[in-house]
Amino acid sequence: MKLSQLFLLSSILVSVPSIGHAEEASWKDTSLSAEARAKALVKAMTQDEKLQLVASQYAVDNGSKHLPIPKGALGSAAYVAGIPRLGIPAQQITDAGLGVTNPNHIRPNDAATSLPSGQILSGTFDRNLAYEAGKMTGAEAFHRGFNVLLGGGMVLTRDPRIGRNFEYLGEDPILAGNIGAEQIKGVQSQHVVSTAKHLAFNNIETNRKKIDMKVGEKEGRESDLLAFEIAIKKGNPGSIMCAYNKVNGDYSCENSYLLQLPKKEWGYQGYIMTDWGAGHSTVKAANAGLDQESAADQFDNKIYFGKDLKEAIAKGEVPQSRLDDMAYRVLYGLIQVGAYDHPAVKSTQSEDVAAHEAISQKVAENGIVLLQNKQNILPLAATVKNIAIIGGKADKGVLSGGGSSQVTARGGNITDPTSMQTWPGPASYFPSSPMKAIQALAPKAKIQFAEGNNIDEAVKLASQSDVVIIFATKWSAESFDNADMSLPGNQNLLIEAVAKAGKPVIVVLETGNPVEMPWLNNVDAVVEAWYPGTSGGTAIANILFGKVNPSGRLTITWPKSLAQVPYPKITNAGQRWNEDDPVKEDKPDLSGIKTFSLDVDKANVGYRWYQDKKITPLYPFGYGLSYSTFKYNKITLNNNLSGKNPTMTAEVTVENTGNKDGADAVQVYGTIPDGTTSRLLGFDKVALKAGETKTVSIPLALQAIANYEPKAHHWELPAGTYTIAVKPDALSNEGVKTTVHINKMNLAD
Ligand code: GLC
Repeated sequence: MKLSQLFLLSSILVSVPSIGHAEEASWKDTSLSAEARAKALVKAMTQDEKLQLVASQYAVDNGSKHLPIPKGALGSAAYVAGIPRLGIPAQQITDAGLGVTNPNHIRPNDAATSLPSGQILSGTFDRNLAYEAGKMTGAEAFHRGFNVLLGGGMVLTRDPRIGRNFEYLGEDPILAGNIGAEQIKGVQSQHVVSTAKHLAFNNIETNRKKIDMKVGEKEGRESDLLAFEIAIKKGNPGSIMCAYNKVNGDYSCENSYLLQLPKKEWGYQGYIMTDWGAGHSTVKAANAGLDQESAADQFDNKIYFGKDLKEAIAKGEVPQSRLDDMAYRVLYGLIQVGAYDHPAVKSTQSEDVAAHEAISQKVAENGIVLLQNKQNILPLAATVKNIAIIGGKADKGVLSGGGSSQVTARGGNITDPTSMQTWPGPASYFPSSPMKAIQALAPKAKIQFAEGNNIDEAVKLASQSDVVIIFATKWSAESFDNADMSLPGNQNLLIEAVAKAGKPVIVVLETGNPVEMPWLNNVDAVVEAWYPGTSGGTAIANILFGKVNPSGRLTITWPKSLAQVPYPKITNAGQRWNEDDPVKEDKPDLSGIKTFSLDVDKANVGYRWYQDKKITPLYPFGYGLSYSTFKYNKITLNNNLSGKNPTMTAEVTVENTGNKDGADAVQVYGTIPDGTTSRLLGFDKVALKAGETKTVSIPLALQAIANYEPKAHHWELPAGTYTIAVKPDALSNEGVKTTVHINKMNLAD
């Protein structure tokens, strides 16, 4: 029996009993499980009430039809009316993972806190901080009356050009899954449903709404789907968002393999919603396991989960039990996070802005990466006299990524008039000026600023200064990929020219992806600040002046050039079409890539591929410098390898051998018996005072060194001797290691 038939049968066999036996409002009984309460509610609902829950409406007035937003909607990505007689709240649905957005300023003057980009959050290697970050964005959503936050982006980074890498958590499934889980738990601690998105293999933006991603089941389970498995099992998101793209021929949102996997194998009880415009059918999607169609009134060719669904059920093309299950899952998602018992209402109180911005700043300070620091030029002394600051609008703010995750900052975003002005543009800067923050840390310094477009003027200013800080930027956004890895405009020429002025030069990058740095050997220090969020200017200054000891690490392998990457040629990368009105299917089809086969890196995403191919990138996954130095003195393993739930924990002793307090991202890797690729098994962020030694206990994810066997339908650890090493980055030969012999074993699902 095919998995899909099994799914259909099981959902019929265990289907929610039809209405007519409503218990005495037991759904209000908070002593009952979310499961029991959701089932009781479904029993009490009419058919139309169930149908109401499974289709949301767009709630912004900027669509091509410029429809007024639905009555009762706050104004956001989507809205579902509530069912007051049953106490079911409206679903007020907002973007996104970096903070509460305000598309088209639909809620006048509503600004929010933006977290730094996902590369920074995962680059902290800090679960607690990820939780705090999610909690803060969840609190800001709840404060505004939202109860669904479309966060939880965790598509693996497979290429350094992808437009939405800034929203995601890097290339490793163990890191992305665990950081994503904590972020989801943090959001949901505020009675707000979080999502895990986009399921699955939305690994490139070019032609994203039509492209067919080809991937083998084994390779898929061991890479992108492993990140989702970890995040869904550990984070228990109220909802999952299926992706625009096809996977192996079927659109994700009608792909029974993808939609049933979380439910049938990972015990997932929540609901799966489409991306905006990712609905393509009624019967096929419903029977495949889709639970909610998002904003179809604006984004889909038609509303598939409206009267068409009602008719399909009446005709028996979709079992009644499927609709009952859809409604059950939406209600389960809302109840399990507390959105039923604690309805979000737009607050009249002021929110704790300082505390929220402090969280964003802390994430930035702990995730920004120090890439180069010749002669320890950094940290700068507060007594430095003449500072030249050049480029990157550093006098005004810090760059942010474009698209549905774009937050409107307090004080207003500064837009770049030279960038694309239609969605996902314009390129926007948050008004957190690095220059102002630097001036605050060096109050006696004479600081002069040059835009950087006049290179002679910049060189002249540099030659009159004691130190030069050049900010270089590259904008990334949803819906298209960067054409290459180069810094746009004259920035490379500018940096080369300024470096010749003979003064110490520090480059601060604000980019959405790794970039080529032809001037690297001619500058003294390089800091990758990615998109550092609404307190990013302060975070950058604190790192440059040593108020914070940098501890961020790369969660994307940084290649020397595109010659090193698995997919050097992405046809049409850099091109995009105007998505203002995605309803029209007659978009210029970027026909260069109708299909994209993940048949080069397969499960070996990122550093694993570089190891396998013996390619040395510019900087490896896990790399980052500190103003301290750290040493790994010992690793021992505590194993319980019997039974179906074997566990392995590494006890790692790490020492701060520097003279500054700092923090180390302790990374434990496992090398599989054939000795080719080592994979991240576990991690922790450890604060250490100068000279301090600590031993930390790090649980290891054996799935990362196991093989998924599609025929046997389980994870298998082959027999052999595994090397378990703690090392400063994925490709390093430093650190300490130990070995463990494992007999062949299957891991419980
Ligand atoms: C967008 C994105 C998705 C977002 C949704 C609502 O196109 O792909 O991540 O949450 O639509 O804005």
